[in-house]
Amino acid sequence: MEAAHQDPHLHKQLFGDHFIWGVSTAAFQMEGAANLDGKGVSIWDAFTKKKGKILNGDNADIACDFYHRYKEDIDLIHQLNIPNFRFSISWTRVLPNGDGEVNQQGILFYNNVINYCLEKGIEPWITIYHWDLPQVFEDKGGWTNRQIVNWFTYFVEVCASNFGDRVKNWMVINEPAVFTGAGYFFGIHAPGRIGIKSYLQAVHHAVLSMVAGAKKLRAIVPDAKIGTTFSCSHIEPYSNKTRDINAAKRADAFINRLFIEPILGLGYPVQEVPVLKGIEKIKQPGDDENMRFDFDFIGLQNYTREIVKCSYFTPYVFAKLVKAEKRDVELTTMRWEVYPPAIYEVIKKFNAYGNIKEIYITENGSAFEDSLNNGIVDDQKRLKFLKDNLQQVLKAKTEGYKVNGYFVWTLTDNFEWAEGYHARFGLIYIDFKTQQRVIKSSGRWYANFLK
Ligand code: BGC
Repeated sequence: MEAAHQDPHLHKQLFGDHFIWGVSTAAFQMEGAANLDGKGVSIWDAFTKKKGKILNGDNADIACDFYHRYKEDIDLIHQLNIPNFRFSISWTRVLPNGDGEVNQQGILFYNNVINYCLEKGIEPWITIYHWDLPQVFEDKGGWTNRQIVNWFTYFVEVCASNFGDRVKNWMVINEPAVFTGAGYFFGIHAPGRIGIKSYLQAVHHAVLSMVAGAKKLRAIVPDAKIGTTFSCSHIEPYSNKTRDINAAKRADAFINRLFIEPILGLGYPVQEVPVLKGIEKIKQPGDDENMRFDFDFIGLQNYTREIVKCSYFTPYVFAKLVKAEKRDVELTTMRWEVYPPAIYEVIKKFNAYGNIKEIYITENGSAFEDSLNNGIVDDQKRLKFLKDNLQQVLKAKTEGYKVNGYFVWTLTDNFEWAEGYHARFGLIYIDFKTQQRVIKSSGRWYANFLK
């Protein structure tokens, strides 16, 4: 990896000709233009306006202004030699009322993005849902309302029928574990709901929607490559005491297994976490069949590892994460441990299922404090993180584990959900006062590596 500066085609020598290289983004974190050209209100638009929800009171009304600067940003992707660009569709930009009439100005925007990518020789990869549910649906219960399966399928239909002629790589839903957990159980993400009941409903409806959406996509774009993306962390018990080992298994069921297993036809991991039996009560006839889909690929998104300890005071899971700041390890701005072997471990773990066709790392990256000095952002920590993580992906690949591609999170610094603009993940720095973009050292390294 060190030799990237000297050696052209190094990425091909190491990873082969067919490995997919990319960069990932999401609509809400990038686009801004929150009220422009007919866009409706999403749960994140609403949540960011509530007091105390987002660090420093930030919101994403302007964000990276990608809505107006998409050409400049796609030019930067081109300049960085990145051949694949993953972005998401804002539901309320194309369907301001969630369903019903399509907003042609929204369709035009995504057509412009797609066409400009293709013009520059960049392959578009679309995530259909990256967390920005229409607020009108949240008012009717959002992901807790079973109707969501129909609402979501219609949204998929609109995306597939408008963009499917040119876009062949699709991801149905981004990280269901995070938006159901953070949004409907802990209440720290939009829509800010709390409780086991809303969480279990949201989980089940997300699984059904993921499958219904994938089927709709398959029907409209028969030659599409269809995937979905899961957050995953490498998990280790705090000690080798049986109670910590079992706690780690329970946390693993929630964090890593909850969504992939029903999709593969294995059902929910109820044995490890009996509270999931609650889902059995809301299931309807035919659901078991409608929870499975033969995805062309699974996207894995990894940032760190978690150390888990038994905790009888933590309801349902009886386990707690031992915070990285208490473990004397290197931290990112997110206070996540820097632990590159985690990515190797999750690749290995998902390979063990045996019947996943292809695995892409659809997100991996790190937030560190950056500073702009004389026009330069020398982000050595992020650069090292990137190299060390790629080394681990290479190790997995060399050992024969399936891993077909790698997308960095993320292109530019952007709106990092509850952390606002404080956590910078980009290969490209943004001065949010001027919207000026500056390629960081990590971005230059990636560009050289991909040359
Ligand atoms: C999400 C991104 C997010 C990133 C870093 C993933 O959970 O898909 O939207 O910015 O991780 O936190």
